[in-house]
Amino acid sequence: MTIGGGSSMDTAKAIGIIINNPEFADVRSLEGVAPTKNHAVFTIAVPTTAGTAAEVTINYVITDPEKVRKFVCVDTNDAPEVAVVDPDMMASMPAGLTASTGMDALTHAIEGYTTKGAWELSDMFHFEAIKLISENLRDSVAEAKSGQPGSGREGMALGQYVAGMGFSNVGLGIDHAMAHTLSAHYDTPHGVACAMLLPIAMEFNKPVCAERLAKVAVAMGVDTTGMSTDEAADAAIAAVKQLSADVNIPHVCEAMKADEIEVLAKDAMADACFPGNPREATLDDVIELFKKICPAA
Ligand SMILES: NC(=O)c1ccc[n+]([C@@H]2O[C@H](COP(=O)([O-])OP(=O)(O)OC[C@H]3O[C@@H](n4cnc5c(N)ncnc54)[C@H](O)[C@@H]3O)[C@@H](O)[C@H]2O)c1
Ligand SMILES: [Fe+2]
Repeated sequence: MTIGGGSSMDTAKAIGIIINNPEFADVRSLEGVAPTKNHAVFTIAVPTTAGTAAEVTINYVITDPEKVRKFVCVDTNDAPEVAVVDPDMMASMPAGLTASTGMDALTHAIEGYTTKGAWELSDMFHFEAIKLISENLRDSVAEAKSGQPGSGREGMALGQYVAGMGFSNVGLGIDHAMAHTLSAHYDTPHGVACAMLLPIAMEFNKPVCAERLAKVAVAMGVDTTGMSTDEAADAAIAAVKQLSADVNIPHVCEAMKADEIEVLAKDAMADACFPGNPREATLDDVIELFKKICPAA
């Protein structure tokens, strides 16, 4: 059994895989789509954040401090057999953790909705997840502040899980590729990194997925009546920025160093999430995107 946030669940998933596939004893050999033969040891996963949805996904993310990078392992053999998604297990989260992990879940839902592999079935999960998270994240953060868990917390437990049911089947994109890199270099909490980059990634992807972003606006409760597709896509980006600000997520990464941006961009392009992005991005593009969250650039 694994109980905890994404870090604990991901560590348990890696251990469970290695126990039953000892030829992959070095966890680095599992990066990307891992060709393991055996399913991980029987695992019951109990998330305490809302969240990564690691209890239901086929991914786990490992930090390699020696190489200063986080890497993603993708393997259907790592999915836990049982997920116990109980908002009471998340009730001890302080407001900041509630906000950042909730924005991670929103990023999964929006990136999953716009990723290259998105299709009708994954759209159902992602549209509903965007709706649930948009409706419940502010309340969930308020409940964390007051110490009175309620419907916001319940909605977030469900929303993050539904997002996981979607993105685990289709992948993510440039936001997660860049967020993993940021966290590896500056220890930025995963959800904060995802949230800072989300409106920037949406803006970058707008030329190839404006119609999808327009639907994101609808899922987020924006009245798009009379708006053009372009205006509705912009409204989705504005709604994400507003939600992020309402739950006190910073919009720049103070720790970033301008002279490290090229290394960050190269690392992000090597991340397993990068190819899922709907719009091709060059090194220069990724550098420009990182500059938008670097106060020193
Ligand atoms: N496997 C996946 O599909 C997937 C998806 C997204 C992210 N991730 C990975 O998950 C990790 C992030 O996980 P996370 O955002 O859940 O945070 P986390 O697991 O890293 O936890 C953050 C902190 O919160 C504490 N914490 C956890 N639950 C708590 C609770 N209920 N009350 C008080 N404190 C609590 C932890 O002890 C830790 O100090 C990253 O490494 C990220 O890359 C994995
Ligand atoms: Fe994530």
